[in-house]
Amino acid sequence: MRAMVIAVVSLKGGTGKTTMSGHLLAVLHEKGHKVLGVDADEENQGLLIWGSLLRTPIIGMAVPTLHRQLPGVVGEDVDFVVLDTPPMKAAKGVVLSALRLADLVLIPCAPNTAEYNQVGPTVDLIAESADLRPEGEAPPHVLVLTKCKASAASPVAYRGLAESDGHVVARSQIPDRERIIQSQSSAIVRAAAGPFGDLVDELGFAKVAA
Ligand SMILES: Nc1ncnc2c1ncn2[C@@H]1O[C@H](COP(=O)(O)OP(=O)(O)OP(=O)(O)O)[C@@H](O)[C@H]1O
Ligand SMILES: [Mg+2]
Repeated sequence: MRAMVIAVVSLKGGTGKTTMSGHLLAVLHEKGHKVLGVDADEENQGLLIWGSLLRTPIIGMAVPTLHRQLPGVVGEDVDFVVLDTPPMKAAKGVVLSALRLADLVLIPCAPNTAEYNQVGPTVDLIAESADLRPEGEAPPHVLVLTKCKASAASPVAYRGLAESDGHVVARSQIPDRERIIQSQSSAIVRAAAGPFGDLVDELGFAKVAA
């Protein structure tokens, strides 16, 4: 499989994994890349339900053998696979399987205690995947602050906390925005010009150092 695999992962539900996955697909599609979305969440098939509105192909594959099955269905012409995963607490096997394939892991996290507390266990599972990967190294991960309220102090505070805890935090942060909430029931337009576009530009989606 030639495609770069981006997995969007977190311990708990509702952190914004599906929202981030859909917008990343939209940005990459707008930039002319061939993309494939993979919904690995059996319980809450957010990406599949979003489906046709995203104008990019989406497949469902919520299995703990994802790392073996997915390479067989991703064409050599696909540039990026975005893997939307279930909450790790609910389906650890599926998430671990996604981590075996990932070239880059994005962890969405709102700047509050409840969401930040899930980052440590998420990173522990990423580390756990190392032994299962061919190179024996965990995939790099980047924390993305999301649902950031305009002019609130919390994004700055949690960025500082995360960096002092040794995490790589994306400079781009995703605002708490009604338009983002409503995007799951409409087509996403001009995603590349918005915050998810800035995130893609920043990360370059090259293999980021851990
Ligand atoms: N940047 C944002 N601004 C405002 N609301 C947001 C933002 N990102 C996500 N949300 C909202 O947060 C809720 C959870 O988002 P989402 O479904 O993407 O999370 P999830 O991590 O995929 O959840 P689950 O683990 O249950 O699949 C949704 O109502 C979504 O609209
Ligand atoms: Mg989801």
